[in-house]
Amino acid sequence: MRKKGRATAPFYLYHPLFVTLEEFIMANVTFTSPKMNKDITVHAGGHSTLLAVAREHVIPLECECEDGEFCTCAVQVSSSKARDTSAPWRLACQYIVRDDDLLVKF
Ligand code: FES
Repeated sequence: MRKKGRATAPFYLYHPLFVTLEEFIMANVTFTSPKMNKDITVHAGGHSTLLAVAREHVIPLECECEDGEFCTCAVQVSSSKARDTSAPWRLACQYIVRDDDLLVKF
């Protein structure tokens, strides 16, 4: 019998192997720049920003404010799912990595 007034989460949420769908969805992100000796491809997901992914993998991506104010983190992003072949400029601190593979030029 369930007690009134007390909400409990399902037991599987506490299992150590439980992952949310957002954590499960991953993408390959390739960073390319004249500032780096070679292109670097990393596996990213969990709805991180491009800037967070770059920092996690020590990619020398410039940033100043981290809130979209100064535009110093502008990068060109090509998506594997995009039909348009031109790479639009995006702010790495605002761009959320989802499940499509990306080519990031800076
Ligand atoms: S870090 Fe300033 S706009 Fe992204």
